[in-house]
Amino acid sequence: MKPQALAAALIAALAVIPASHAIAQSAPAIPGYTMGQKSLAKAPYTPADLESLKKTLLFTDEDIRYLRMSKAILADQTEAILDVWYGFVASTPELVVYFKNNRTGAPDGAYLGAVRKRFARWITDTADANYDQAWLDYQYEIGLRHTTPGKNKTDRADSVPLVNFRYLSALTIPVTTTLKPFLAKKGAAAADVEKMHAAWVKSVLMQTILWSHPYVRDGQF
Ligand code: HEM
Repeated sequence: MKPQALAAALIAALAVIPASHAIAQSAPAIPGYTMGQKSLAKAPYTPADLESLKKTLLFTDEDIRYLRMSKAILADQTEAILDVWYGFVASTPELVVYFKNNRTGAPDGAYLGAVRKRFARWITDTADANYDQAWLDYQYEIGLRHTTPGKNKTDRADSVPLVNFRYLSALTIPVTTTLKPFLAKKGAAAADVEKMHAAWVKSVLMQTILWSHPYVRDGQF
């Protein structure tokens, strides 16, 4: 095949691949990260439900702008942030128990490490979320992964069957409090740091509320 014909064939082939798949193929693969994949269940809440939740959380377009501003600031600090967050979980016996290996009773390093890679991606996903159906569906999936239908499955971990509900939204506070110094590290104005921090608090709380769906009785979410 001539180079021009080959190029035309490739362009034609790419045109039928959905954008999310094209992105998934060009980005380095993170094991178990499935945002945008067709295999995911459709979220049981709608874009309209999300808009109502945003209203109640006072989550506005300004928050979206400040989250986006945080993306570049946090980009090269991800590993340091995860060290702090994992340090908090590791030093809190009430939390580290959710990563324990059932056989040894000790924290499962492979499980912690596999989740950490997706946690790193979640920082960027939170900063530049577009709140579309794929995002909503992945919120539902993350909720399932914290509860019995999905926990341990992605990484084939032999661990406890669920994260207890009461800790889910509670972790918003250590996660966002410890994030604030990282938001301030790149010279942003103090007022912008405050607004980025406030936007992160709202977004993380909103996500943990969406993740709570599997814990709530039918019809009561
Ligand atoms: C603000 C609250 C929380 C945030 C932002 C958060 C964030 C995340 C993220 C991004 C993932 C990976 C999702 C994926 O697979 O793509 C994850 C998984 C996980 N989180 Fe959380 N989480 C929170 C609360 C908690 C709490 C309180 C615990 C208890 C220790 C916990 C334990 C876990 C575990 C065990 C997994 C792995 C689940 C699996 O088997 O797939 N999380 N979390």
